[in-house]
Amino acid sequence: MSVGRLVAPAPGEDVVKKLMQAAGAAPDHGKLRPWRFIVFEGEGIKTFGDVMAASLKRKNPAADEVSLAQERKKAERAPMIIVAVALARESTKIPRFEQLLSTGAAVQNLLLAAHALGFGTMWRTGDVAFDKEAMKAIGLAPGDEIAGTIYIGSLPQPVGRAQPAEAAPVSRG
Ligand SMILES: Cc1cc2nc3c(=O)[nH]c(=O)nc-3n(C[C@H](O)[C@H](O)[C@H](O)COP(=O)(O)O)c2cc1C
Repeated sequence: MSVGRLVAPAPGEDVVKKLMQAAGAAPDHGKLRPWRFIVFEGEGIKTFGDVMAASLKRKNPAADEVSLAQERKKAERAPMIIVAVALARESTKIPRFEQLLSTGAAVQNLLLAAHALGFGTMWRTGDVAFDKEAMKAIGLAPGDEIAGTIYIGSLPQPVGRAQPAEAAPVSRG
């Protein structure tokens, strides 16, 4: 279940380590580990907000200070942002598509682990994912893609349970 506004405290170092273990346990055909995670918190949230605002300014040079400040503020929707990077590469053995699916699975593992540890999350894409200059600014190399910008933090108030998925009747022969 996604929560759009999350509050401090952010996950501590021990929790982040568990999140990385969960992510790293994703099914990974060929053991390529086609992902990377970049954690922003504290001053890092400010940096990410600045990258978002600079990206908006590139896209829309007429953007005024108010809209730039609004854009910067979006990074404060959680006390921690984890950018999930897909490192999917053309390969003769493992299709790029499978590498992307693996990265998605790693992200979902991370989300499930965060929820199990009592934290809330929201998987966003964000305009940074479509701006090569912004991607470079946060340390991505050419060919890297943003699979998700994961906002993570404590829940402002208890949230209800997610709707269970519907299971089709099982036929037993
Ligand atoms: C790959 C991916 C990208 C997403 N990007 C965004 C996004 O940029 N902005 C947004 O509001 N929701 C985005 N979502 C949807 C939210 O993560 C979430 O699914 C939605 O708010 C509904 O909440 P729920 O799935 O917990 O019911 C994305 C989901 C996925 C899987």
